[in-house]
Amino acid sequence: MAEVGVNIERAAAYLNQGQLVAIPTETVYGLAGNALDIKAVSSIFETKNRPTFDPLILHADSLERIYPLVSSFPEKLKRLAQAFWPGPLTLLLPRKEIISDLVTSGLDRVAVRVPNHPLTLALLAQLEFPLAAPSANPFGYISPTQVGHVDAQLGTQIPYILDGGACAVGLESTIVGMEGEQVVIYRLGGLDISKIEAVVGQVTVQAHSSSNPSAPGQLASHYAPRKPFLLGNLVELVPKMIQQGKEVGVLSFNSHFSTIPSDRQVALSATQDLQEAAQRLFMGMRLLDESTASVILAELVPEIGLGRAINDRLKRAAAQPIH
Ligand code: TXA
Ligand code: MG
Repeated sequence: MAEVGVNIERAAAYLNQGQLVAIPTETVYGLAGNALDIKAVSSIFETKNRPTFDPLILHADSLERIYPLVSSFPEKLKRLAQAFWPGPLTLLLPRKEIISDLVTSGLDRVAVRVPNHPLTLALLAQLEFPLAAPSANPFGYISPTQVGHVDAQLGTQIPYILDGGACAVGLESTIVGMEGEQVVIYRLGGLDISKIEAVVGQVTVQAHSSSNPSAPGQLASHYAPRKPFLLGNLVELVPKMIQQGKEVGVLSFNSHFSTIPSDRQVALSATQDLQEAAQRLFMGMRLLDESTASVILAELVPEIGLGRAINDRLKRAAAQPIH
């Protein structure tokens, strides 16, 4: 298992040697390496078992340190950066030569963000390079929101995990770019669309493009548990599956089922708070995936605010993998 700690110097030393370190962010844990070192970037893909057509997000500790990575910065996106960085916002910007094709999967734009976690910001401030960091999970599985999630799956492959506690937001960053003059959302995430629209006006959402294989974050099946995961009306589904003899696990917004053992059910927010539900979503999915349940039943949450991103992840978890 990896060494787990809060020693920034130690994390920096590994990264300076070209090794990978798991880092906390406000959204999910990242698997980080020197973005300007091809070998380190290659080992990110290998460690995650991630196809190289799925590009990586670069992380820096300030807007000023993003400038050298991009060849232009549209006014509207700059306003978003100023409003929400550090925070759960990723921008797609025209890349400079210094960024390798491996990072962007050959695309013209590079994904960049300033994450909001004190440990990782302090680490980034010590480094002379940006960090490439996808979520620290095997490709296609649920993103990690706690140290234990990272350690269980990647712990034998990396030397160090920087322990920043449980992720406060719990959903990956919202990915935003421009098409002409139009601001486009490519992945719903931890920054609510209404907050983005308050700064730049109306946006277009293109988060469900199956026609774009170059952005697997947009693929239907992703963020998925290993067990069968069914979405629907729990009041109907739960008794039906129990009757079929299934060991039922339940991921609800805020209900409790007396017919199901408590270690096989997770209510995301007793007070129906979408922020709390987002924070607990991936933890709940993992817990049920590791429980004795043979099938996981889940329901959508209200399609408002962060609820849109939560529902997006629930639908992708429920989609059948494409083989
Ligand atoms: O919150 C987050 O964004 C986390 C933390 C660690 O920062 N990172 C994260 O990375 O979720 P990852 O690699 O799991 O998802 C990034 C997604 C990719 O699936 C890809 O679709 C999209 O971002 N992406 C990255 N670079 C892109 C590019 N140049 N053009 C289009 N999409 C891109
Ligand atoms: Mg990911």
